[in-house]
Amino acid sequence: MGDKQLKSEIEKRRTFAIISHPDAGKTTLTEKFLLYGGAINLAGSVKGKATARHAVSDWMDIEKERGISVTSSVLQFSYDGFCINILDTPGHQDFSEDTYRTLMAADSAVMVIDAAKGVEPQTRKLFKVCAMRRIPIFTFMNKLDRDAKDPFELLDDIENELGIPTCPMNWPIGSGKGFKGVYDRAGRTVVVYSDTVKGTREGHAEIIPIEDKDRLLEILGDAAFEKLMEDVELLDGAGSGFDQEEVDAGLLSPVFFGSALTNFGVEIFLRNFLKMTSPPLARRSDAGVIDPVSDDFSAFVFKIQANMNKAHRDRIAFMRICSGKYTAQMEVLHVQGQKVMRLSQPQQMMASERHVVDEAYAGDIIGVFDPGIFSIGDTVCSPGAGFRYEGIPTFAPEHFARVRQVDTMKRKQFVKGITQIAQEGAIQIFHELGTGLEEIIVGVVGVLQFEVLKYRLENEYNVEIKMDMLPYEHIRWIVNTDIDIDKLTGTSDMKKVTDLKDRPLLLFINSWSIGMTLERNEGLELEEFSRN
Ligand code: G4P
Repeated sequence: MGDKQLKSEIEKRRTFAIISHPDAGKTTLTEKFLLYGGAINLAGSVKGKATARHAVSDWMDIEKERGISVTSSVLQFSYDGFCINILDTPGHQDFSEDTYRTLMAADSAVMVIDAAKGVEPQTRKLFKVCAMRRIPIFTFMNKLDRDAKDPFELLDDIENELGIPTCPMNWPIGSGKGFKGVYDRAGRTVVVYSDTVKGTREGHAEIIPIEDKDRLLEILGDAAFEKLMEDVELLDGAGSGFDQEEVDAGLLSPVFFGSALTNFGVEIFLRNFLKMTSPPLARRSDAGVIDPVSDDFSAFVFKIQANMNKAHRDRIAFMRICSGKYTAQMEVLHVQGQKVMRLSQPQQMMASERHVVDEAYAGDIIGVFDPGIFSIGDTVCSPGAGFRYEGIPTFAPEHFARVRQVDTMKRKQFVKGITQIAQEGAIQIFHELGTGLEEIIVGVVGVLQFEVLKYRLENEYNVEIKMDMLPYEHIRWIVNTDIDIDKLTGTSDMKKVTDLKDRPLLLFINSWSIGMTLERNEGLELEEFSRN
């Protein structure tokens, strides 16, 4: 393959995640994207949404029945000459550390916000992880067909809550029953709202130049027209213009207003977003920054999914290709294991079907069967290359429980099982400082992981466990490890623990205690995630 073809394949790739608080409209927006890409015929078939909302026990059954759900990991389709990979960031019940890890594989993020609610807790958490990587973040302000907050207030909310300046690309005219459309700032036109809930494409909206006062007055009415003129003046005067470099650096978020459900503003958003977002980004490794357009293939494992089905005890390792091209049967080096191997049955998702991949490029995600050799963060590359990508951070869990085995005779199996599950990255385990192995504290990002732990220990290790929930909600890694842990003084609720790698951490019940502890211990530095 010529360099040119490799370059063009890689440069047309756009790999991104859609982040949102549950119910903001992530699934609906994804469906519309797929619809425009021709990947599905009618919106509504992205994934069994019901699955995500099922009670825990049902979820287990479903997971058992369908084995590993590759479906919910990545969707690939083409649109407008681009090859798009949308990474799924599970929310609802299956929010877990995997959701954060998936963001490590994205080159940009689309943040969907419910315009009636503004920034919500889960958006905030996911945003933080994206901001840490400085990837471009685009905002889709959704549900304008319902009564929404004032748009200026919504932008202030993003700037104050998330600390990122915004640049509105279009501007809503009213909301809910009074929603008339959006003003496109670059084109200086008004795109008139048309409700096409059942349409397969965006409706043929009327577009009126801002100078055409008569037609605007006719469509918008006096009040909405006046308000629009005022808003436009305010916006133009505010001077927060679009700056591609700032967007690339993750320092400015372009904002689009629309309504995913009624197909309004979605296609315009998609088109603009694809132009403004980044092709596969170069990544840091121990051999320097690796250019995606390279003859050497390389990828890193960002997520490992264990099969819940007893009959198929295999796992799937999801890899993000970072450079070069993958071809079926090619030999690769698993750097951490120092083994040359062939990847087993790499799979990719095309809309709703799983298929074996013959070739894939930087930007793509493949899932390979893992006989238990891969760990999260591992690098796989062409045998001659041999470098390692930077590891994936460990993210702070928010739910904690003290866990012990019911039958004291089964201590060994219990410790083995819980340690293995922690090494896979499904849960994190901590020991109270000075108590040895006796007390195990489990931390998880999403509460469902507790159920998964219980289920897997019972089924795979034959160990019954008892869990006592702990009131802690915050955990922080101590950055300056030279500090004398014994001498640290915190609030009375603070607990000192160590993780699997023996790193010291502090557990807190509330964020106020974190502040107090920092105040009382000069020089102490705490971090919400730990670089591995
Ligand atoms: P999520 O993936 O972020 O959790 O959100 P999802 O797309 O599932 O949307 C949550 C609810 O909001 C759905 O309604 C969906 O139809 C609705 N919704 C999404 N976008 C819009 C929009 O632009 N306008 C309006 N009015 N509603 C929107 P639901 O009743 O909970 O589910 P369903 O029965 O319609 O699937």
